[in-house]
Amino acid sequence: MTDTQEYHGKLVTIERFILDQQQAHPEATGTLTNILYDMALAAKIITSKTTRAGLAEILGSAGEENVQGEEVQKLDVFAQRTIFRLNDHTGRLAAMASEEEEAIIPIPSRFPVGPYVLVFDPLDGSSNIDMNVSIGTIFGIYRRTTEGGPGTLEDVLQPARNLVAAGYILYGASTMMVYSTGNGVHGFTLDPAIGEFLLSHPNIKLPVKPKYYSVNQGYQPFWTPGVQAYTEWLQQDTPEKKGLSLRYIGSLVADFHRNLLSGGVFYYPADSKDPKKPGGKLRLVYEAGPLSFLIEQAGGYASDGTQAILDIVPERLHQRVPMFIGDRNLVEQAEALIRQHDQPA
Ligand code: AHG
Ligand code: MN
Ligand code: MN
Repeated sequence: MTDTQEYHGKLVTIERFILDQQQAHPEATGTLTNILYDMALAAKIITSKTTRAGLAEILGSAGEENVQGEEVQKLDVFAQRTIFRLNDHTGRLAAMASEEEEAIIPIPSRFPVGPYVLVFDPLDGSSNIDMNVSIGTIFGIYRRTTEGGPGTLEDVLQPARNLVAAGYILYGASTMMVYSTGNGVHGFTLDPAIGEFLLSHPNIKLPVKPKYYSVNQGYQPFWTPGVQAYTEWLQQDTPEKKGLSLRYIGSLVADFHRNLLSGGVFYYPADSKDPKKPGGKLRLVYEAGPLSFLIEQAGGYASDGTQAILDIVPERLHQRVPMFIGDRNLVEQAEALIRQHDQPA
């Protein structure tokens, strides 16, 4: 575990911190370190657009071109292209996979391939952009499993327990980057005055006492009896906990981050109202998987209602999965009530 005591009260940039973490791994080549650097750079570039997202139409009022003659891009397309362009030529990745692309994204043949694969949701919560609600980017990094040549779907469809790193960027009142390489969860806040991410939340651990539960209660009529019973339990004072308050932003990264710091549980159950989404709405590979890696690093747990999300082997790139994520006791209670009410004996 990283001893973060040494950092207290000191000005530590994310680059310095990542490099220090790498020192703990003498066998490290620096490749993973550089991928994390590039995600921090992507965060800065995307931030520069999110702060004016609402103005895109005005700036781009001249049809599809804005006053600078640049093509006005939707923010999620811009985020997608930014992450791709920072990583396509570096020789660190064998392939990428994104929420925005149907198939895996190969490394252009003119560039070398590398030992890792990057999975990402370039812009999470994009329906909130026009309402100026926080949005995010989610990413995960695996070591490739196939030998040599272009990366394949097999390299991407790994259980999240195999992740070597995962993180998210939160474009909120401030921009934060939170990541883990399996050595605790660490949060950095962007200081726009100097363009640096500074260590602000070393070694984040879920608080012992949970505060919030987060779910789209609008779907309550469609929940299973187990999820109904669970939500009632969360609201009650019990010997283990006080009744929890509801907080739901509808932007996964923002909901996750708040609960990581305040304690609680976020869940997006199987959305049984929509037969097209039998497995819920959230995607396993680039949403639930990386966040499940992070929550376990912070002392919590993530389940699909019956098993640890970290152990689920994806079968399809955009596979959806129900997700209960946060305080371990709260998530295990969800599994218990689903077993009791929803699974025939
Ligand atoms: P994305 O914008 O990447 O498609 O993700 C949106 C997700 C997630 O951010 C959020 O938790 C969820 O959509 C909210 O869904 P509901 O509006 O159905 O609650
Ligand atoms: Mn998303
Ligand atoms: Mn998205």
